[in-house]
Amino acid sequence: MNEKEWQAVDDYFAGTLVRQDAQLQQTLDRNQQAGLPAIDVAPNQGKMLHLLARMMQAKTILEIGTLGGYSTIWLARALPETGRLITLEFDEKHAAVARENIARAGVADKVEIRVGPALESLPALQSLAPFDLFFIDADKRNNPHYLRWALKLARPGSVIIADNVVRSGRITNAGSGDANIQGLRQFLRLAGEDPCLSATAVQTLGGKGWDGFFLAIVESVPTQI
Ligand code: SAH
Ligand code: DHB
Ligand code: MG
Repeated sequence: MNEKEWQAVDDYFAGTLVRQDAQLQQTLDRNQQAGLPAIDVAPNQGKMLHLLARMMQAKTILEIGTLGGYSTIWLARALPETGRLITLEFDEKHAAVARENIARAGVADKVEIRVGPALESLPALQSLAPFDLFFIDADKRNNPHYLRWALKLARPGSVIIADNVVRSGRITNAGSGDANIQGLRQFLRLAGEDPCLSATAVQTLGGKGWDGFFLAIVESVPTQI
């Protein structure tokens, strides 16, 4: 098996099932033209996020890590008319590209981008909590903090999804010197040990290589002291 075959299967699924429209395709095109790294979720993954949000009838979504807004648009399109999505992005250039993509996709009225380090934006979101769905996809070293914040901003039944929990298998390297791998490992350990959460992770193989998603439901929220 090789990456070309994985890409061929992703392309096949994209053509048969996902069938993304011109707005989503143009979002990827504009991201590339703007020189953004091609680390958006794959089309079949974006549609999976969209379907999960619809399955749980999410009305409020918090995304950490916007990039060009590709996953944002998939998620925003799952919201009802009154639904709202807040997405946190550190990089002003990424946010500017995302703002245009989100407007052209027709979901600007549902989406708010907050620019700055996510850890500085999160405290102000307490007045808007609870969020139904969290998508954590920014700097992986901070995932343990993002998990704590998600629990703070959640209600029982909220769903937490995180991207990139496999990293070509590097996740199992306990001695890794990579702060992102250590952040992901601590995040997974915290999630697995937390009685407030029921969690799993699944590996993915495709056009974006070998990676995976973390998925959890909030069973109860911790008592705030
Ligand atoms: N969710 C996007 C991809 C996000 S890539 C998609 O699938 O389409 C990760 C993004 O997180 C990058 O744009 C990066 O600038 C941003 N990021 C990294 N560290 C951050 C931080 N501390 N706070 C907010 N955003 C951050
Ligand atoms: C990286 C980040 C991502 O969110 C992703 O999906 C792939 C790669 C990265 O920072 O390398
Ligand atoms: Mg990602």
